[in-house]
This record gives sequence, structure tokens and C-alpha cells, in this order.
Amino acid sequence: MNYREFKLERYFARYEFSVRYLLSPSDCESLSMQELLALADQECMELWHNLKLGYTESSGHPLLRDEAAAFYRELTARDMLIVNPEEGIFIAMQSLLEAGDEVIVLEPSYQSLREIPRALGCRVVSWPLTVREGRWQLDPEHLKAAFTPRTRMVIVNFPHNPTGFLPDRKAFLDLLALAEEKDVYLFSDEIYRLLEHDPSDRLPAAADCYHRAISLGGLSKSFGLPGLRLGWLATRDESARQKFVLMKDYTSICGSAPSEILGIIALRAKAQIVREKLALILENLKQARELFSRHEQMFQWLEPRGGSTAFPCLRADHAVDQFCLELVKDKNVMLLPGEVFDFPGNYFRIGLGRKNFAEGLALLEQFIQNR
Ligand SMILES: Cc1ncc(COP(=O)(O)O)c(C=O)c1O
Repeated sequence: MNYREFKLERYFARYEFSVRYLLSPSDCESLSMQELLALADQECMELWHNLKLGYTESSGHPLLRDEAAAFYRELTARDMLIVNPEEGIFIAMQSLLEAGDEVIVLEPSYQSLREIPRALGCRVVSWPLTVREGRWQLDPEHLKAAFTPRTRMVIVNFPHNPTGFLPDRKAFLDLLALAEEKDVYLFSDEIYRLLEHDPSDRLPAAADCYHRAISLGGLSKSFGLPGLRLGWLATRDESARQKFVLMKDYTSICGSAPSEILGIIALRAKAQIVREKLALILENLKQARELFSRHEQMFQWLEPRGGSTAFPCLRADHAVDQFCLELVKDKNVMLLPGEVFDFPGNYFRIGLGRKNFAEGLALLEQFIQNR
């Protein structure tokens, strides 16, 4: 196997189910079955009670594809392929890339966005977010200079994990126009969409704006339903979609029958579910901002604009990975060091979507004060 260890997933595997306070996850507080089923309309309740646990349609339940298509202006249910989100990344890269291609990847990135192309033999060129004037920024000139005749795909993720970065609309449309001019695929990981802290900052879906864009959507983050393992690949590029369909026969063949019905319920109730998740994020964000401003000599707080995470910097002389290790040992609180993103600097990820955030944050403050 040519794949390197998935550092973030291995770090979580060590602590996720043993530590008391997860202060770094990217998913929002999960819904219980009871809470989700309480949101079901009559049609969904009937689907749920009469569900037979057979194989399902490979492209996804038609009603689920209808609900996913509602995220797009220009796309219909035909343009949706239901996948498990991580599987969607794998399918898209495996279908569209080959050894010798070049891809330009926004960094830091969720590891599979750069690791799968690398393992396929592609040359991976970084388009880094950098801190300027106290906030995360992207340099479009860096992107322009990164293109070569071998560039086949640009890979982005907005709202961004881990920084919470969100470009403004013009910068995003310029990016799409550049991808079109260069005639490359744009893989747009939009799994944190709907979690823009100011909803007027929401970007259009890439697949609506450019015919060779692939949008990845899903229920793991904004909906707090990662246990459903549900997402979708959306594109107007029929040839790419056909390749995805063929590849899925070698990954999962089809989705899980119960998850599909639960997914339809969630998507029909998206306004309520997402409103609650966003309210929790904004409340937690306020507390985080206050804590980090009380300890400015130790941290540089870098305000996120969307999503459920932030990626501040530890200013102290010692390494952030050591800081995170001591914190988890001493207070049973888990933060995620930037090293798991292979990103240089003393950054760490904080997750803003959980209900017990304030308790974990209070322990972090005690830890800081006792140092
Ligand atoms: C940017 C991004 N894309 C995709 C995924 C994969 O989602 P899932 O874990 O639900 O497969 C994640 C998960 O953290 C993510 O942060």
C-alpha cells in the first residue's frame, strides 16, 4: 500500500472514545435517533417503518438525490451520486487522476485531499493559507504561478477545515474562472457549507458555476450526523459522473438502507438542524475568543469565518504537540496539534461544535494558569 498513515484519524483513534473533553472535533454535536425521527414527516415515517434491509440503488435513493439536488441551482437529482463523504474523495480522485498529473491543493488540508493524489502518483503542489495582518489569507498569485501544462485538478475546501477560512465571493468566482481558463477540474469540498458564521458570506456551490467542478456535500459536519456516513458528489460533468458511478462498484456498491431514509429526514429538516448547530458554534466561538484574548501573550487567536473549527497559534516557546500531550494527560482535554496536518508552525485545531465546549475550555484555562 502506497498510502501514508492518516495522521489526524490515527490521533483521534487514540483519544476519541477515551478522553473526557474533545475540544477539537470538526463535527457538530450529534443528533440522537430519537431527535432525528421526531423531525420526520409522514412520508419518511412510512419509509422508515416499511424499510426492507436489502441492497439500495447504487446512485442513491431517488428522494435522497432530490434533497441533495436542492443545494444547487443548476443541478438535478441526476447529477448527484450518493457516497460516504470520505469515499467521495477517494472515488473522485481515483476516477479523474493518474500518475504524472499535477494537482494544486489548498493547505493545510484534510489529509485525504492531498494524500490520495500523491498515492496515485500525482505531483502535489501546495497552495498555502498564510497568516497576514492577523488572519488567514490566500494568495491568488501563488495559485496562478503554480499551474503547469500537466495541472489536472485544483482542490479546495470552503469553509475550510481547520482554519475556518472562507474567501469572499469575488475571490471564489475568480478561482472558478481561472480553473475554467486552464480547463482543469475543480474539486470543491463543501462539507462545511451552511456553517458560514454570517450566512450572507455563503459562497455559491462550485458545481453550479463551472461545468468541470465537483462539489462534495454531506451530513457529517453541518448536520451533526457523521454516523450516517452520508454525502454526495455533485457535478454537471456527465463523463466524470459516469466514472464515479463505475468506481463506486468497487468501494461500497450502494449506500446503507437505514442511513438513506434517515438522511432524507435530516435534509428535509435542514433549516432547523443547521440553525441549532450554528447557534452552538457561535456561542462557543464567543467563549473561545474571550479566553484567547485573556491570554494574548500566549496565543494568537485567528478568527474563523465559517465551519466548526479554528486554527489559532500557540506563541509560547515550546512545541504545540507537547502542549497538547500535556493537556490531555493533565486535564483529559484533547486539542489537535497542527502537525497532524503536516503544516508548519505552532498551530492547533479547536472544535467549536460540541455542547460541553465551555467545560473543556474552562479546563484549558486552568491548565494555562497553572503553567
Ligand atoms: C474537509 C473534510 N472533507 C471530508 C471529510 C470526511 O468526512 P467523513 O469523516 O464524514 O467521511 C472531513 C472529515 O473530517 C473533512 O474535514
